[in-house]
Amino acid sequence: MSNAEKLRLGVNIDHVATVRNARGGAYPDPLRAARIAQEAGADGITAHLREDRRHISDADIEGLMEVLRVPLNFEMAATDEMQKIALRHKPHAVCIVPEKREERTTEGGLEVAREENKLAHFIAPLREAGSRVSIFIAADPRQIEAANRIGAEVIELHTGAYCDAHAEGRLEEAEVELTKLREMSTFAHSLGLEVHAGHGLTYDTVAPVATFPEVRELNIGHFLIGEAIFLGLEPAILKMRQLMDKARAATL
Ligand code: PXP
Repeated sequence: MSNAEKLRLGVNIDHVATVRNARGGAYPDPLRAARIAQEAGADGITAHLREDRRHISDADIEGLMEVLRVPLNFEMAATDEMQKIALRHKPHAVCIVPEKREERTTEGGLEVAREENKLAHFIAPLREAGSRVSIFIAADPRQIEAANRIGAEVIELHTGAYCDAHAEGRLEEAEVELTKLREMSTFAHSLGLEVHAGHGLTYDTVAPVATFPEVRELNIGHFLIGEAIFLGLEPAILKMRQLMDKARAATL
């Protein structure tokens, strides 16, 4: 498989920090998880520094910037505080996500269309600092066009609606969501955007998304960290990699 066609896997380590923070100590260490993930073939590490610091901490981001060989995808909300942190670290990639204090996870995509001017100004210095800017959005042409207009280089499509429908046995709905994701990855690619996808992906849901030729990267966290309890982190990641590569290879 040539590099141009390779589907990258970004491993999100937020929930190693969730478990650590449940006791307030140093274990399990997200940096150790990041090292194992890169040894297991992760193409990048993703970490979301939330405003309330419920999982990843500022010190984790500093540590990741120091130890990683693979690129860090720094997820953050569009706030002044996070912009300053990103400009200090200049990570390889910054992914802008919506954030609500009361949510359990990033529930929807970012509302770009209504906030175009504000977001265009927000991401400009990040791009000037050399970070590749990605915008986490729903599979909606309005949001994709807006992400393109504000100068984002990448969009990450939110796969949560597809994964939730699949997990709850609403299979027709899951198919509808998959069709939207497929069509919108083609559309975004046609505008010149690089397309990533993620949220809620599991061994059962990853293959169809991995077949979309325009999708270059999947970001996967919660399920992998959960599987690591049963399989170990390295085997859990290797299994995901195999499923992605097998699905991708079948399309070539
Ligand atoms: N991509 C983005 C932009 C996210 O916010 C998240 C969750 O933090 C993920 C991917 C990974 O989602 P999950 O942890 O459900 O695999």
